[in-house]
Amino acid sequence: MIRFDAVSKNYPNGTTAVDGLSLELAEGGITVLVGPSGCGKTTTLRMVNRMVEPTAGTVSLRGQDIREVAAPELRRGIGYVIQHAGLFPHRTILDNVATVPLLLGWGKKKARARAAELLELVGLPATMAKRYPYQLSGGQQQRVGVARALGADPPVLLMDEPFSAVDPIVRGELQAEFLRLQKELHKTIVFVTHDIDEAIKLGDNIAVFRTGGKLAQFDTPERLLAHPADDFVADFVGQDRGIRRLSFVQAAGLPLREGPALPVTASVAEARALDEPWVLVVDDARRPLGWAEAAGLADAGTLADIPLAPLGHTFSLVGDSARAALDAALLSPSRLAVGVDAQGAVAGVADAYELSAAIAGTGGSLGAAPEAAGVAETAEAAGPQLVKGAADPAAAEDADGSGSNTGKTGGGDR
Ligand SMILES: Nc1ncnc2c1ncn2[C@@H]1O[C@H](COP(=O)(O)OP(=O)(O)OP(=O)(O)O)[C@@H](O)[C@H]1O
Ligand SMILES: [Mg+2]
Repeated sequence: MIRFDAVSKNYPNGTTAVDGLSLELAEGGITVLVGPSGCGKTTTLRMVNRMVEPTAGTVSLRGQDIREVAAPELRRGIGYVIQHAGLFPHRTILDNVATVPLLLGWGKKKARARAAELLELVGLPATMAKRYPYQLSGGQQQRVGVARALGADPPVLLMDEPFSAVDPIVRGELQAEFLRLQKELHKTIVFVTHDIDEAIKLGDNIAVFRTGGKLAQFDTPERLLAHPADDFVADFVGQDRGIRRLSFVQAAGLPLREGPALPVTASVAEARALDEPWVLVVDDARRPLGWAEAAGLADAGTLADIPLAPLGHTFSLVGDSARAALDAALLSPSRLAVGVDAQGAVAGVADAYELSAAIAGTGGSLGAAPEAAGVAETAEAAGPQLVKGAADPAAAEDADGSGSNTGKTGGGDR
């Protein structure tokens, strides 16, 4: 969709901002440009809407050399969002968002109606429409910036560190909101950040730049974590990439076993008879209630009569990642992670050792993009002892339908 062919940008002072960049950005996806300060991210971004003209090479949009399109016309189809939102301070929020439709000659009434629609789309209450930018928080201003960029419903969106100026909690909210919005809008987005975690969370593809405007690697987040091209990328990606890449492996494919589980109506004697250090107590719908420690059990009564140790957290076979599963094992008092199906019923248990062995055993599908691996394939790779939940076609379909095999759902832990 957007293509860079041997593109360079040299400034008269001798700076090479971008050096021989060849890159093809997919339509309808989020491509993140990431790298240290001064590596040419903003320059690359601005060459897409002709705010910066390349010294050499060609940038094309849908197969057309963008030099053949007049800049104003080109920019009509390209929204632009910058850090601090860049709002007009003397215009109301509504009028800020109505800017582009007004420029396009929509007429005041229609432009404002569109602006109101866009404010709702980015999650701002209508009551804010009449305020001025200084009366909004940084995060709210950033949402207005996104709404304004969407004014003419452009197919392409350029975003230059849009969430960098806000605190980590607000940034997390904005990122989640942004992914939700993109699911609806399917824009072709070029997103600049210097934060690799943000890149991994948001990007369908990531271009890592090194100083001097050179592309170091262009890959999916999961491949970047699993196979960094060189030491620079490995360093840039960070140390705990082994754990982080588990976010891209679906829990649906992990092998679980039955485990020691009893209904809460069972007697304490039955629990002791299992001869296990911990027994998982479930309700009448097989939903997990907690763990009973065998050593502490009295002689009489039912499991309803005894205090249970909390589960820590369970993980869902529909939508959660292997990272969530491993975390569940590490936090569980019994050291067993409890996997639940779409209804929240226990599908099985596994300890951290079993989980990591299974994850390692999936070999290729661990490194591969989840889109390619898919639920069924991951399940196959995990072998015959596969989980009930994941083998259940309804659960698998559900996971598919919810788009969880894009690796984006349950992505809070990404
Ligand atoms: N107009 C200019 N004249 C000369 N050099 C420039 C000009 N604009 C940018 N540069 C230089 O080009 C290089 C790339 O700049 P660019 O703004 O693309 O970096 P960046 O990756 O966006 O950095 P940051 O993360 O700090 O925003 C830098 O060394 C910068 O100093
Ligand atoms: Mg920049």
